[in-house]
Amino acid sequence: MTKFMKYAKRIAAAATLLAGTHLAFAQAYPTKPINWVVPFAAGGPTDALARHIAERVARELGQPIIIDNAPGAGGTVGAAKVAKATADGYTFLVGHMGYMGAAPALYRKLGYDPVKDFDAVFRFPDTPLVLMVRNAHPAKDMAGLIDFARKNPDRLFIGNAGMGSSSHLIAALVANAAGIRVTMVPYKGAGPALVDVIGGQVDGMFDQTNTAMPHITSGKVRALAVTSKVRLPQFKNVPTLNETVLPGFEASTWYGIYAPRGTPKAALDKVQNAYLRAMKDTGFTGKMAEQAIQMLPPEQYTGAALARHTENEVARWRAVAAKSNLALD
Ligand code: MLT
Repeated sequence: MTKFMKYAKRIAAAATLLAGTHLAFAQAYPTKPINWVVPFAAGGPTDALARHIAERVARELGQPIIIDNAPGAGGTVGAAKVAKATADGYTFLVGHMGYMGAAPALYRKLGYDPVKDFDAVFRFPDTPLVLMVRNAHPAKDMAGLIDFARKNPDRLFIGNAGMGSSSHLIAALVANAAGIRVTMVPYKGAGPALVDVIGGQVDGMFDQTNTAMPHITSGKVRALAVTSKVRLPQFKNVPTLNETVLPGFEASTWYGIYAPRGTPKAALDKVQNAYLRAMKDTGFTGKMAEQAIQMLPPEQYTGAALARHTENEVARWRAVAAKSNLALD
């Protein structure tokens, strides 16, 4: 046998071995619990939605999904952690509009690239936000709140989940569009911020509907407006910003699951397909719809669609940030 034939035989054997390893991985995955990093404090909207979806996807995969809360800097701390994690199929990021869309436009030195450093796995449904104020605040509606802020520049204290979070970005866009100056009060998540709105330490905040709803219906805070284009059936008496002070305004928080770039495709596909099966379960999606979470057309839930969406959002926020002077450093 010639030297070349011996070499070719060894290569073929190695390729077969590699293919075999990939196949074995694909068949066995997942063989242990999986970590989902949530870059905000426990108890907030991202944490609550991630836990609801993780529980259902875990049932499909046959392995538990552990939520690892890694809050800080509007979510960029958790995102950087996953960007550097081992790409073995066992660490994922619960990504969202702020740190996976807007952050490149807000920070010169971000420490990760939402498009290059991650593999997109699947997209969650979107969550609109509600502007809530403490019960004792004098403003009875949006016009009253804008008037108060105009007469008291920097004296309206608005809580948020950290600079660059969606509760911060939406508040900044609304303040910009309304031509008012407010004081932003950052927290490690919307959960701790809401505690201080209920307690009256801060005047108000934008929070996603899934965690805002129980506190509004129980009367602990007052809702002044929602960010959806049309009213939400769950908040019939709450006007939209679009129909009140900001015609045309519409916003919601988008979310998606991402893995460190280079994660085995077999793992990405299995996790995506487990989610797509779960999204056919009306009991599971019904719970989210009750919280005014907005279902998307099914083709938008895939990893490929999320990858395109992330690229488009990074570009869109560059334009928005430039126009609204949102940069943070
Ligand atoms: C945000 O961006 O405001 C987050 O969704 C807050 C959170 O989940 O705590």
